[in-house]
Amino acid sequence: MAIIYRIEGRGTELLSHKKIGDEVTIIGPLGNGFPIQDMKSSQKALIVGGGIGTPPLLELSKQLALRGVEVTHILGFQTKEAVILQQELSEYGKTYVATEDGTEGTKGFVTDVIDQYELEFDRLYTCGPTPMLKALEAKFPEKEVYLSLEERMACGIGACYACVKETCKKDDELGYRKICSDGPVFRAGEVVL
Ligand code: FES
Repeated sequence: MAIIYRIEGRGTELLSHKKIGDEVTIIGPLGNGFPIQDMKSSQKALIVGGGIGTPPLLELSKQLALRGVEVTHILGFQTKEAVILQQELSEYGKTYVATEDGTEGTKGFVTDVIDQYELEFDRLYTCGPTPMLKALEAKFPEKEVYLSLEERMACGIGACYACVKETCKKDDELGYRKICSDGPVFRAGEVVL
């Protein structure tokens, strides 16, 4: 098991001081995962990662490739130094990179890569910053798109309601979903981003 994180606040800063041999307590795995069971070997999956949202897509890509699914990746970062897992993901399928400053791959965003190479797919899986998820959701309203959401979480098990998102359907019985226990993966159009 690998834990990949970026130092963002006090929690991850404390974690960064851990040394080999130190112990931490972990509850997990929690929540759902990306649906892959119905993907067939003749189908194409487009996997889109943004920044620190990229690591959860590595195992997804591996599992899809093992099923014979044709996998293509697009990874978006701010700059060349921030690019991660490009080589690892390339083992499972073609991998494009976009950087906002143009220092690696296509200059711009992941959506620019989709346009540039006219990429086709049966299903899109993505994880990354909300603006990127929003752009992908808006770009493919007719497609099957699965989004893995990020949120600050307190309990992680559905008890504290720190991570709720409003549902898109106004007649939904609950009117919200909890990212930690109902997600983190949602079909595009299920919750308001
Ligand atoms: Fe507590 Fe989601 S983090 S309900």
